[in-house]
Amino acid sequence: MLKLAPSLLAADFSRLNEDIRRIEEGGAHYLHLDVMDGAFVPSISFGTPVIGKLRSCTKLKFDVHMMVEEPARFAGDYVEAGAELITVHAEACRHLDRAVRQIRSLGVQVGVALNPATSLSALDYILNEVDMILLMSVNPGFGGQTYIPYVTEKIKLLRSCLNERGLSTDIQVDGGVTLANAGELVRAGATVLVAGSAIFKGDIRENTRAFVELLEGCEPWI
Ligand code: DX5
Ligand code: ZN
Repeated sequence: MLKLAPSLLAADFSRLNEDIRRIEEGGAHYLHLDVMDGAFVPSISFGTPVIGKLRSCTKLKFDVHMMVEEPARFAGDYVEAGAELITVHAEACRHLDRAVRQIRSLGVQVGVALNPATSLSALDYILNEVDMILLMSVNPGFGGQTYIPYVTEKIKLLRSCLNERGLSTDIQVDGGVTLANAGELVRAGATVLVAGSAIFKGDIRENTRAFVELLEGCEPWI
């Protein structure tokens, strides 16, 4: 099933509760939570105090995107705060295999993210061990950037590589996703779309609904 993961980074931080209710009413599947440390990426966003407080506001699956150096150090705290899926960047983990195992041992799903310019070969040995691959389609750190077109080819390549191995692993695409390019991303092989500005600018409930309807009308890669 194709899923929509609105990124809270683009929400109004003075009324997170209401904005989350609107995406829930619109039919979103995940809540994408962008954690930034000011070291792996140039900005700082929010962490466990905010995520923990939001846990009681919604039933949406908490999809935590860790843009943090050596994120496994904090994984336990994020699970305690309510994370159900934790994605770490291959570029931020010196020992990626250890990080993936550590997160899995906490009883949550684990994803691995690649920056736009990082080769898919970084996934060769870890592909069978993860629940999701996140392909960044902008350079991480900020919302509201433009989709980098060469990532579409990367999605296609990753999907055919997964097919060859008989895996139906989710491919999440994050950055510059809009109603205009969502269909193309799904056709390329994406199964989870992250959208920040395209959801939270304007009528949040209607934007969410429009994305969900588009996904429901799309033929997934299978
Ligand atoms: C960027 C974040 C994204 C971002 C997406 O570093 O990982 O999740 O919020 O925002 P848009 O959809 O506005 O590009
Ligand atoms: Zn993200």
